[in-house]
Amino acid sequence: MENCKRPESMARINTKELADAFIEQQIKEIREQVGDKKVLLALSGGVDSSVVAALLIKAIGKQLVCVHVNHGLMRKDESENVIKVFREGLDANLIYVDATDRFLNLLAGVAEPEKKRKIIGAEFINVFADEARKLEGIDFLAQGTIYPDILESIKQAEGKKAVKSHHNVGGLPEDLNFELVEPIKLLFKDEVRVVGEALGLPHGMVYRQPFPGPGLGVRCLGAITRDRLHALREADAILRDEFDKCGLAEKVWQYFVVIPDIKSVGVKDESRYEGWPAIIRAVNTTDAMSATIEEIPYPVLHKITDRITHEVDGINRVLMDLTPKPIGTIEWE
Ligand code: XMP
Repeated sequence: MENCKRPESMARINTKELADAFIEQQIKEIREQVGDKKVLLALSGGVDSSVVAALLIKAIGKQLVCVHVNHGLMRKDESENVIKVFREGLDANLIYVDATDRFLNLLAGVAEPEKKRKIIGAEFINVFADEARKLEGIDFLAQGTIYPDILESIKQAEGKKAVKSHHNVGGLPEDLNFELVEPIKLLFKDEVRVVGEALGLPHGMVYRQPFPGPGLGVRCLGAITRDRLHALREADAILRDEFDKCGLAEKVWQYFVVIPDIKSVGVKDESRYEGWPAIIRAVNTTDAMSATIEEIPYPVLHKITDRITHEVDGINRVLMDLTPKPIGTIEWE
């Protein structure tokens, strides 16, 4: 951990000029470290892995092999967007793995949140390791580790307990013994974004709201079913669309839909219509340790309610979660 300390003299990267200088320096260091060898990267499409991918593509082009695992718990159009930006836009060497069935089969009937998180985390590593074993001549693994991850590891090494088992890419099996490339490990999130913009990544990707590793899996509460997951994905897309349209997307730190495993009675076309409630959560925070509720104007809430209940099969109510953190966590599971 010692060589992972951010030097006190390191300037905060908050301008394009500083970001460009950082990029130049990293390109040099990556080339020195990697030479003509190949590097593997799990590219989720989140800010951190996207910035690492763009940096490595600049430094070593096709020597970088990106693997995007779709665990079937992505938001609407998310995997397609990763392919568009990296394969079509940056000509990346990108392997797309649709592992939806693997994940959903393992998760069938599993209702306990920590069990779900563990299954998703472990299977992610299995799928990624399977892909890595198919490839030959890879010596390096790039990771989007950032400075808060290092600080969190230091805290855990000091024996402080985590509330949830947050999953990103954990340890790979021992037969896959790669040397790590971690070009943004000394950066804070705001700096990663400035670097991302300087690298020319799309604004929506650089300023993407946080999305947990287990994805929609921890928002489709209890045992996940394909129909409820589908409803969640569609309702979430409507919420994001409406937030984009009214400018809330730029203002609210994190906003999403949660669907519990309960049904209530409703009425549609003069018949009984049992459906799930869609719960809207919209929070502001600086560090995700505590969070406050964003007040959403009623006309926006009416519009979202109207669209979700009319456009999404299986949903017959829309609720708003007004709970700050603490006492609630941001995610429900
Ligand atoms: P909680 O629910 O603990 O969430 O208040 C705090 C922030 O962390 C995100 N989150 C995760 N991020 N892997 C991640 O990378 C995870 O497993 C995970 N679980 C929660 C959550 O979305 C919020 O921004």
